[in-house]
Amino acid sequence: MTILVTGGAGFIGTNFVREWLRHSTERVVNYDKLTYAGNAENLDDLVSDERYRFVRGDICDFDAFAGVLAQEKPRAVLNFAAESHVDRSIHGPEDFVQTNVVGVSRLLQASLHYWRSLPDGADRDAFRFLQVSTDEVYGSLTPDAPLFREDSRYEPNSPYAATKAASDHLVRAWGVTFGLPVLTTNCSNNYGPYQFPEKLIPLVIGNALAGRDLPVYGDGMQVRDWLFVSDHCAALRAVLESGRVGDTYNIGGLNEITNIAVVNAICTILDELSPAASGKPYANQIRHVTDRPGHDRRYAIDATKIRTALNWRPAETFSTGLRKTVQWYLANTAWLDRVRSGAYRDWLARHYDA
Ligand code: NAD
Ligand code: TYD
Repeated sequence: MTILVTGGAGFIGTNFVREWLRHSTERVVNYDKLTYAGNAENLDDLVSDERYRFVRGDICDFDAFAGVLAQEKPRAVLNFAAESHVDRSIHGPEDFVQTNVVGVSRLLQASLHYWRSLPDGADRDAFRFLQVSTDEVYGSLTPDAPLFREDSRYEPNSPYAATKAASDHLVRAWGVTFGLPVLTTNCSNNYGPYQFPEKLIPLVIGNALAGRDLPVYGDGMQVRDWLFVSDHCAALRAVLESGRVGDTYNIGGLNEITNIAVVNAICTILDELSPAASGKPYANQIRHVTDRPGHDRRYAIDATKIRTALNWRPAETFSTGLRKTVQWYLANTAWLDRVRSGAYRDWLARHYDA
């Protein structure tokens, strides 16, 4: 059997693919456009694994995606592919609309054709389309508001969140109107190995080690509910195997922390594991900078449903997960350097003359 993931060369997709091959005997096909956020080097060591196949492709390309479905006959499609960075969505929302909205509509339509082509019976009943989405679709919580539940209202504030909200609605519509067996997950902020260093945690680790400023937007009192990426991957496997068709599942880390506390925690771990040559604490590099427009103040997930229905809970606390994350970046400074310098794009030139 085979599963097909889109966006598997990005942060969460890379972790998911690697963990899938450890937990399952099934094949995984990774369909990814390799935008700036896709790093094929992350999975380069898997090219000799006969259970892994990489296909370069755009989710907006209906024919290409339909061709891979027809050839690979997967039992499930998991959609990780997206433009994912809020700051970029503010500076240039067009790519977000293309991939996150138009692309998802094409994926759904191609998946529907494929699903309808399956013979009546076990294969057709077992097929699933899983949309990997975000808690940012619910907007911002006030300090005393109840946590995000699956029935919380969609109130997206950034262009990124709005396009993810749109794609979630498309997924729902393809399920209700056409009967495509869909599942949707809405997860809080992830962190861990292979995260692109435009996001807060790897950006702070990289800047700290390079002796640069650590930029904290506004007062730094914004709250996120951090989840270690392999806990997210485990939740996705649980939803794929046992989730109820048509349902959505919120996934969160039970780790509400302010941004300034996150940055200080990283500095403290780095002070211990890799002290600055100057002998000064890394926290001296923290700088408060102009806030992000429309910056959501607080996200936090009520994960009761996935905990009770699927018996999932995070294995990592924020302090164990953050320490593992910092250790991974310290052990993989070459990876970080290649991404920060742009050298990771050499893979594309070698394989595609691009
Ligand atoms: P990422 O930006 O690291 O990776 C995105 C991947 O998608 C890249 O490999 C990129 O090449 C690929 N891609 C982009 N456009 C494509 C297109 N048109 N066709 C094919 N591939 C394309 O993102 P991530 O952080 O790994 O997030 C993965 C998914 O999880 C996204 O859908 C995101 O919305 C969601 N999510 C992320 C977080 C988080 O904290 N990172 C939290 C909740 C949900
Ligand atoms: P980010 O990792 O971009 O995720 P998201 O915006 O999807 O939550 O940012 C996490 C938090 O950190 C968010 O509140 C914005 C803040 N932030 C900074 O304060 N400084 C930075 O340089 C970045 C990238 C983010």
